[in-house]
Amino acid sequence: MNSARHEDRTVIVTGASSGIGRRIAQAFGEEGANVVCASRSNEPNQGKHYDNDLTVPTEEYVRQETPGDAIFVSTDVSDHQRVEAMVEETLDVYGQIDVLVNNAGISVVGDSQETSIEDWNRMIGVDLDGTFFCCKHAIPHIKETEGDIVNIASVNATEGGSGPAYSAAKAGQVNMTRDLAVELGPENVNVNCVSPGYVKTPIQDYQDESSIAISREQTLLPEFGEPEDIADVVTFLASEEARYIHGADIYVDGGWAAHRV
Ligand SMILES: NC(=O)c1ccc[n+]([C@@H]2O[C@H](COP(=O)([O-])OP(=O)(O)OC[C@H]3O[C@@H](n4cnc5c(N)ncnc54)[C@H](O)[C@@H]3O)[C@@H](O)[C@H]2O)c1
Repeated sequence: MNSARHEDRTVIVTGASSGIGRRIAQAFGEEGANVVCASRSNEPNQGKHYDNDLTVPTEEYVRQETPGDAIFVSTDVSDHQRVEAMVEETLDVYGQIDVLVNNAGISVVGDSQETSIEDWNRMIGVDLDGTFFCCKHAIPHIKETEGDIVNIASVNATEGGSGPAYSAAKAGQVNMTRDLAVELGPENVNVNCVSPGYVKTPIQDYQDESSIAISREQTLLPEFGEPEDIADVVTFLASEEARYIHGADIYVDGGWAAHRV
């Protein structure tokens, strides 16, 4: 029904090689977009529990299986010079930027004593610095198209529960979203956040049987989330149908947060 909402729009998806980012890239491709898959590598991540059957790089999948187009641009989002180069390459190939999805993320889940300084810096570097660097370099071009920004945070941003590094990085993304909404609302650029609960992707590799069982108890609906549950919301938020949603943090968590308040 919504097959052409993003036709000919240019969409940057960070961390598109697996999990949620891969599905977001595919979903935009299915709606006719030009997708820039900005990840460190285009090798599909092979997860322990999930995504262990991926073979085709995301950009190839989008080119072959959808009406959209796609390129891979090697990008470490925690390196602002690489981010600047990725934005330049996007403009060289597609000439404009309509949507930025800040999805790239890692998981550092220990408590304060288990979290090394190096792990803290890595966590903040990818999820928080990376979101800021991509916004900083892409925003001047997104203003020109009156486009959209969607940040992928987590229910842990407001609920805690995954250790200080992860919670702090994700909370930073949510609050950055609000400030960007203040800055960019007058420019007609929508900025929103999506906060997933437990979604079946390789980021869950650290979980053992007992922590999976705890996540199962925390999720009210009978099933864990699938990457498409997040992608459907992201493509909606970046569409004209969501033109009046701005500065929001949308929980897509199977009720995980609802029984903690
Ligand atoms: N899966 C979940 O349960 C869940 C829950 C809440 C939030 N999230 C968030 O969703 C987002 C996507 O995670 P996922 O679940 O798909 O996990 P994932 O591990 O499958 O995907 C993460 C992606 O980010 C990429 N990445 C990591 N570091 C990078 C860097 N420095 N530069 C560029 N790319 C980098 C990885 O290569 C991978 O493609 C993350 O921000 C994560 O925190 C996931």
